[in-house]
Order: sequence, then C-alpha cells, then structure tokens
Amino acid sequence: MLSLRNKNVLVTGGAGFIGSHLCDQLIEQSVAKLVAVDNLFLGKKSNLQAISRTRKNFLFAEIDVTNPAAIKKIIDRHRIEVIFHLAVVPLEVSLLKPDWCFTQNVKMTQNICEIIRQAARPITLVAYSSSEVYGSARYTPMDENHPLLCHTPYAASKLSSDVLVYSYYRTFGIDMALVRPFNNYGPRQNEGSYAGVIPITITRIMRGEKPIIYGDGKQTRDFIFVGDTVAGTIKIYQNKKSRGEVFNLASGQQISIAKLIKTICREMNYRGEIEHRSERPGDVRKHQGDASKAEKLLGFTPMVRFEEGIKKTVDWYRRREI
Ligand SMILES: NC(=O)c1ccc[n+]([C@@H]2O[C@H](COP(=O)([O-])OP(=O)(O)OC[C@H]3O[C@@H](n4cnc5c(N)ncnc54)[C@H](O)[C@@H]3O)[C@@H](O)[C@H]2O)c1
Repeated sequence: MLSLRNKNVLVTGGAGFIGSHLCDQLIEQSVAKLVAVDNLFLGKKSNLQAISRTRKNFLFAEIDVTNPAAIKKIIDRHRIEVIFHLAVVPLEVSLLKPDWCFTQNVKMTQNICEIIRQAARPITLVAYSSSEVYGSARYTPMDENHPLLCHTPYAASKLSSDVLVYSYYRTFGIDMALVRPFNNYGPRQNEGSYAGVIPITITRIMRGEKPIIYGDGKQTRDFIFVGDTVAGTIKIYQNKKSRGEVFNLASGQQISIAKLIKTICREMNYRGEIEHRSERPGDVRKHQGDASKAEKLLGFTPMVRFEEGIKKTVDWYRRREI
C-alpha cells in the first residue's frame, strides 16, 4: 500500500464540496504539505476555515486551473507529488452555457496532464470523473463497463477529460487513476447558484418554501455520502493496482427523487405541499452504481446509510443557519 505520509499534495477545486472534505481527510494522512487551489467560482473559503486555522502544513491559493502558468507555478513551488483533480464547472451551468462549461472542464484537465507530462519529477494524478458519463442506465447496477451515453454537455466534458487522462497514461506513461463517483451529498454542498436537489430542498424548507420535484419524481439516483467518496478516493491513490483504471464509487442503492424529497421532508418535519415542475433537459432517468470493482480491489465499502446521511446533512444546514 502506498502512503501519503510526507508527500506534497495538491487538490484542485479544494474549496468546493467534495474537495474540501478530501482536504480534511488528506491532512489526517500526515502529508508534508497540502495545497488546495480554487478560483472560488462556486467554492467557498469558509469550507476550508477549520483546516486553515488549525493546520500549518495546509495552504489555500486562489488560482484558475484553466491558466497553465498559474497552476504550474504552484505545482513547481510546492514540489507537488500527488494531484487530486476535482475542479469543475457543474452540470447545471452546462444547461445554460454548454460551450463554456465544456471548454473550461477540458482545459483544466489538459493543463494538469501537460504539467505532469513535462514535470522533472513524477507526479501521480487521481482525477475525478462522474457517473453522469454513463447517461441513463441501460442495465442496473451500472458497472464500469456500462456504455458511455452522456446526456449533457457537462457529462461530455467529464468523459472527454477521462479519455484525455487515459491517453496521457497510454502515450506518456503518467501515473493515473480515475474516480467515478455517483451522486454525492453531505455538509457543504453548494446551496447557492447551480445547486443540486438535496441542498436546494433543505434550504427551501428552511426558508418556508415548498420543495420542488422536476418531472414525475420517478427518476432514480445512487446517493453516496461525501465522506465515503473521499475515503474511497484515498484508497484509490494508495493501491498501485488502480493505475490506468477507473473506479465507480457508489452506495449500490437506487433512490427515486420522490423518495429523496419525502425523506428530507420527514427529517425536517415538513408536512406541506410539494411543487411539481416540468422535467429538466438531459435529466437521466435511472442510476444505480456497482462499486464491486473498488470493493474487491481496494476494500472500499460505503459506511453511511442513506437516512443517516440525510440526517447529518440536514443537521449541518440547520446548525449553519444559526
Ligand atoms: N457532487 C457530485 O455529486 C459529484 C458526482 C460525481 C462526480 N463529481 C465530481 O467531483 C468533483 C467535485 O465536485 P463537487 O460536487 O465538489 O463540485 P463543487 O462545485 O462543489 O467543486 C468544484 C470546485 O471547482 C472550482 N472551480 C471551477 N472552475 C475552476 C477553475 N477554472 N479553476 C479553479 N477552480 C475551479 C469551483 O469553484 C468549486 O469550488 C468534480 O470533478 C465533479 O465532476 C461530483
């Protein structure tokens, strides 16, 4: 097993939802230095407040990863040995600005690949993909061999990034692995512009507004608690067998949006009406992940049950409101 101990580590998108949780777990691995970069497009410095205050070997830099010179400078200055690449323009933006979302996401990955290819020292890349690259399930549970039928330009940008990283592995031998998480939820998920269904529903109920279901509510997702995804990501780095491979990280459970909203309402004692709106463009119908490859090869097992995770998430948003 490879250790992160005494390594200089970089997290792109580190002020975002998953990135900030990854920073919290990485710092516990006794890394020499942990650098988080983010342009704060959606990320927040407050997500890194605790770690910034308490850990001297942690630093945050406001950097745009689409700028090759800026990101190279950080990687060189801190003699980075491992990069967890999470920075992204999210799905919701791709519905409004498809061209920009696609080019931003691919450009960031391209910059990281090029810097690693040209680096004087070896740098390991653990890059984040997304279950969105599969599109709606042709079969369930969806393993890594499921057809890649992207619905949205966001999914296309993630898949393009995946194949780019893989091509650098095959052609230039970069040390890489791909993490393919299903729908994450938990504390710190962005609830502002371009937010996902869980933070939107919780904050609407807190503000006295009705929760919203788009479409018939029968569309399903595989919800995985953010702490489980982050633990899985570290396992992917630690095991050399992951190199050149992609790993689903999923709970294996299929939950409809209607059931999700009902669970949040129950947790928040909300008994009011639900607002129904028309289906969102590109929305996938069915998602259920098969994470048995990560389980068998890396010993990955999600620890947080759905109801427990929703409770933790609701508690966090409630505490933060005070
Ligand atoms: N949240 C999920 O359910 C989910 C599921 C599957 C995969 N993923 C992947 O996980 C990763 C993290 O997603 P997240 O949910 O934490 O999203 P997030 O939006 O919370 O975090 C992404 C971060 O990237 C930053 N960013 C955007 N453009 C940037 C740029 N040009 N330079 C520097 N930083 C930039 C944003 O400010 C943000 O903080 C992404 O790669 C995403 O595709 C997320």
